Amino acid sequence: MPKVPPPNDHPSINPGFLERTWFTQFHRLWQNDRGQRHAAVPVNARVSVTLSLNANLGKSHDPFIMSTAIDFRSDTVTRPSPGMRQAMADAPVGDDVFGDDPTVHRLQAKAAQLLGQEAGLFVTSGTQGNLLAILTHCQRGEEYIAGSKAHAYLEEAGGGAVLASVQPQPVENQADGTLDLASVRAAIKPDDFHFAITRLFCLENTFFGTPLPMDYLCDAKDLASEHQLRFHLDGARIFNAAVRCGIAPSTIGGMFDSVSACLSKGLGAPIGSVLTGSRDFIRRARRWRKMLGGGTRQVGILAAAGLYALEHNIERLEEDHEHAMLLADGLAEIEELEIQKTAQRTNMVFASMSEHRLEGLARFMQERGILITADENPVRLVTHLDIDQAGLNAAVDAFKDYFHKGA
Ligand SMILES: Cc1ncc(COP(=O)(O)O)c(C=O)c1O
Repeated sequence: MPKVPPPNDHPSINPGFLERTWFTQFHRLWQNDRGQRHAAVPVNARVSVTLSLNANLGKSHDPFIMSTAIDFRSDTVTRPSPGMRQAMADAPVGDDVFGDDPTVHRLQAKAAQLLGQEAGLFVTSGTQGNLLAILTHCQRGEEYIAGSKAHAYLEEAGGGAVLASVQPQPVENQADGTLDLASVRAAIKPDDFHFAITRLFCLENTFFGTPLPMDYLCDAKDLASEHQLRFHLDGARIFNAAVRCGIAPSTIGGMFDSVSACLSKGLGAPIGSVLTGSRDFIRRARRWRKMLGGGTRQVGILAAAGLYALEHNIERLEEDHEHAMLLADGLAEIEELEIQKTAQRTNMVFASMSEHRLEGLARFMQERGILITADENPVRLVTHLDIDQAGLNAAVDAFKDYFHKGA
């Protein structure tokens, strides 16, 4: 049985890299600090940092290192900024199950307006947003079409099938995230009692960091209308797509019957998504949300973070996209790496290498205060509002050291 240390226990010190990592880590503490964190660095910081680096490499849960590392694992790792925290503290609240919370109302209205829909519903997560869309659009015994690699098919624990009794019908994702529309058409079931009734067509935008082309969305919408399918967008990162394409989010969102958009990814909120659609759709989705235990009370303090994110953090996504481009360019100089090309990069870079170089990569990076997930090819690196130019440079340098100086 592997020995699992209790969460705040530091299992072992490796003095070998203690000295190597100490200076870099301590330097980063100050460099990375935006004023509000670690105003006083604890006396035992040195031990704390090094121990956390050594423990459970690549998957450290030490709160100290997690809050100081340059974290490329996802855009979900961002922490609320001082302005966002202030907005949360100041938010007027009420009981949202009674419909009394003014901040929740403001968030829902703002999200609906931005996404070109009539109404919105604040939900706990992107997963809950997609599940509510399936529950609300479909009846038991019907089916939804989604990409074979789509989050709403592959990575939401089968909620559509389990909790909605709605059958998923996957269609292979092409490299750019689109589903071949002839294949979608072929997957739609004829009116025959042997089959489930095809009710819903779901797309995801961005897909692995790439926005879906607008002309494709128009064609997909036409197909949905032609077959009387409801049309849902998993828009976890719809704002990245809109910013990258230079169009209003409502231009994308307004093409769909419903859109779920995440507040807790690149927008920097600590929690939440907004499901948007017609007033009637949202009224029905609210009932399902209640059934799932998602009716919450003075939740305006969380909605305030989402509202702040929508008001302050959309345009700045451009910066994350530029950073991803710079990161891709920097990593492309390493001949052992193959950087996935994409027509329009947003905030993700995918890098492949020979399998044997994967092992030890996350550990090496973590020793330099950089967190990545490198279990398999391609390795995904995500830029976000807690990564600045210095962080990018540190990552590129660390990759170069790994491949050229050796782990
Ligand atoms: C494309 C996409 N959709 C939905 C989700 C689900 O979001 P959440 O983690 O908030 O449930 C994710 C999460 O990573 C995602 O990447």
